[in-house]
Amino acid sequence: MAIELKPDFFDRCARQQQDVMGMQGPYAAVLGDYTLVQLVKDPDYAAARLEPFWAGHIRACLKADPTRRVISYDAGGGISVMSLKLAALLQDEIRDGRFLPVVSELSGGPEHFLEVAKALVPQHGNSYQVSVAAAMLKEFRQGVCYTETALSGNNTSVVWQGEEIDLAGGVDFIHESCAVTPWSRIPEWHILGLGRLASPRCVYAVHQDDIHELTGWMDKAGVERAQRHAGIVAAHRALQEQFGLTPVDHVEAGAFAGRPMTYRIFKGPEAPPITVG
Ligand SMILES: C[S@@+](CC[C@H](N)C(=O)[O-])C[C@H]1O[C@@H](n2cnc3c(N)ncnc32)[C@H](O)[C@@H]1O
Repeated sequence: MAIELKPDFFDRCARQQQDVMGMQGPYAAVLGDYTLVQLVKDPDYAAARLEPFWAGHIRACLKADPTRRVISYDAGGGISVMSLKLAALLQDEIRDGRFLPVVSELSGGPEHFLEVAKALVPQHGNSYQVSVAAAMLKEFRQGVCYTETALSGNNTSVVWQGEEIDLAGGVDFIHESCAVTPWSRIPEWHILGLGRLASPRCVYAVHQDDIHELTGWMDKAGVERAQRHAGIVAAHRALQEQFGLTPVDHVEAGAFAGRPMTYRIFKGPEAPPITVG
């Protein structure tokens, strides 16, 4: 895996390390609930949302090859309401070992995170949302594999029910929202870690806002911001050149064909057309 280092990479690495040590501070806890997130801007039409697209891709992969385990990965997924929903929808497939939703959450396990989310209720809307998340966690927690590792560098394994699973080249849907891309100080490295997980049928979806609006403390002159943007551009180039992923900005099929998407998608050579509606 060749990495194109942008200026001050090692200084940014050190700052990243500090962020991770002080995890409670910089990363606000969020529910990982993408129910209302639009893939295409059309608030009246539920089929234009991310959630049915994500579930549809998993189902299509399950159908295409019934013998292969399908894996979904929400990078920085918080409490991961979306993955818990998938676990609820696909309980039989999880039990049979045919589907595995994985969530990486650097700031701790879901039980800890729920406590943090409760404390943040005033900032994050209503307590109803948190109680729904708590109920889902109680019911479907066993179906979701949580990892506290960023899965970059050489470590691409998770442990699931006693089995060590290497995710490299085996993940069919990678998602991130308000997570790796906007938070990482070294995106030229972290985003490659995600590319490394991609299977030939993979869809990697990152919100466009996360590419353009970076988060966390930055110097006033905006030097680090510029370096991080350059790192993101380099990583996206590497996703294409090293991992064979193709960028997609517009819907490719379905009722919304041709419409621009709120997400930037990279897809593997065997992924079906990006279909919405
Ligand atoms: C604001 S939360 C987003 C939670 C959830 N995705 C959502 O939108 O509801 C930010 C998350 O980014 C994750 N994160 C930040 N940098 C990361 C990195 N380099 N690798 C993996 N996850 C990272 C943290 O674990 C944290 O949970």
